[in-house]
Amino acid sequence: MVQAVRGMRDVLPAEAKRWHLIESTVHSILRQFTYEEIHLPLLEFTELFARGVGEATDIVEKEMYTLADRDGDSLSLRPEGTASCVRALQENGLLYNQTQKVFYSGPMFRYEKPQKGRYRQFYQVGAEAFGFVGPDIDAELISLGANFWRQLGLEKQVRLEINTLGSRQARQMYKKALVDYLTPKAGQLDEDSQRRLHTNPMRILDSKNEQTQAILAQAPDLSMFVDADSQAHFDELLELLQALDIHYVRKPNLVRGLDYYTDTVFEWVTDDLGAQGTICAGGRYNTLVEQLGGRPTPAAGFAMGLDRVLLLHEVVNQTAMNSAVDVYVCYSAPQFAAHAQKLGQWLREQDLGADTAALNVRVNMGGGNFKKQLKRADASHATWAILMGPDEVAAEQLTLKNLSDGQQVTLSKADVVGHLAGTGSN
Ligand code: HAM
Repeated sequence: MVQAVRGMRDVLPAEAKRWHLIESTVHSILRQFTYEEIHLPLLEFTELFARGVGEATDIVEKEMYTLADRDGDSLSLRPEGTASCVRALQENGLLYNQTQKVFYSGPMFRYEKPQKGRYRQFYQVGAEAFGFVGPDIDAELISLGANFWRQLGLEKQVRLEINTLGSRQARQMYKKALVDYLTPKAGQLDEDSQRRLHTNPMRILDSKNEQTQAILAQAPDLSMFVDADSQAHFDELLELLQALDIHYVRKPNLVRGLDYYTDTVFEWVTDDLGAQGTICAGGRYNTLVEQLGGRPTPAAGFAMGLDRVLLLHEVVNQTAMNSAVDVYVCYSAPQFAAHAQKLGQWLREQDLGADTAALNVRVNMGGGNFKKQLKRADASHATWAILMGPDEVAAEQLTLKNLSDGQQVTLSKADVVGHLAGTGSN
């Protein structure tokens, strides 16, 4: 049997229910904050990510799925959504002289070492805001996250870590100071950090190696290089967060793995998922639009890792998600098959009231006597079974059985609906 590609995982029905709950909760919060949904292609020119995410980042250097198409163009499966989003809005004339708030969801691809919470195909929901200069939008983006966790019941599991990188120039100056400090000590750094010293030195701050961290203790301090404007932006943001009752932890070493960030960077992290604790991350990227050929446009955003939020949701809510079947229709003989399917259709179309979702109805397939069909109904975790035999059909009635307590009533079709009201489980 051919197996799944390493790092590409299947989301099976039980998990997909949880997935749907998380994604629909997050989408509806994004819509309430008036972010508009966009859909972006999975494939882009490789150059977009090289220029956007950064040639020297791990993502572009070693993690992209890159292929030549039949014209010889170099294309890559998107490793993230921000660069694509900028490309799409720019290309469609939606950036210049206007503001935009958008969100997208879908799979991203990175050739990383797979482990729990880290996959080669993973799913993000991302939000991006363009044309807003002040820290109010940074605060709104963070507040979106706080809303997600609250509504998903995860607020006790996560904390917000935040930092500012300053302007692009400030970052360049800091980078140089860091390289000057680390170069004479290069031999004592871990292997990854030695490589990064030449490619992406700021990522060394993220190193988990103890000896490297000991060396970094005396390194130049990023916050000393942050320019006055950026500092004022950051201070205002922190004040806004306090006023919004959003708790944060300042992390002077938080730098992020993508090159486009300026000023604010933040991560929502949890201790409940081991090493893959970052469930959502983002920041400001005021120079990316220009870097990709557009006019200077302030921008900020984040992406949530749905696979990780799903794992965290499972840790907190271990009970399996509710069954998708509300009503299981059983019928006594093959001549009632069409009757049963029509009844199923009719039930699915019933309006059970404003607060109740439409019914999920499974009609028995594959025959069998009532005993066998009721066994299937139980196995489907349906709340109700409907039994339809010759008597019911002749009298235009239905027998409704409550599968948890076994109680049975025979009712007219119209009365059945009243009885079922309030049981929709969508
Ligand atoms: P990122 O930090 O690379 O940022 O990814 C965002 C989130 O995606 C991570 O915090 C994590 O939850 C999830 N994630 C990343 N890689 C994997 C993986 N291999 N397996 C499972 N989950 C993963 C970005 O992608 C930026 N585009 C975020 C952003 C949007 N910044 C501004 N706007």
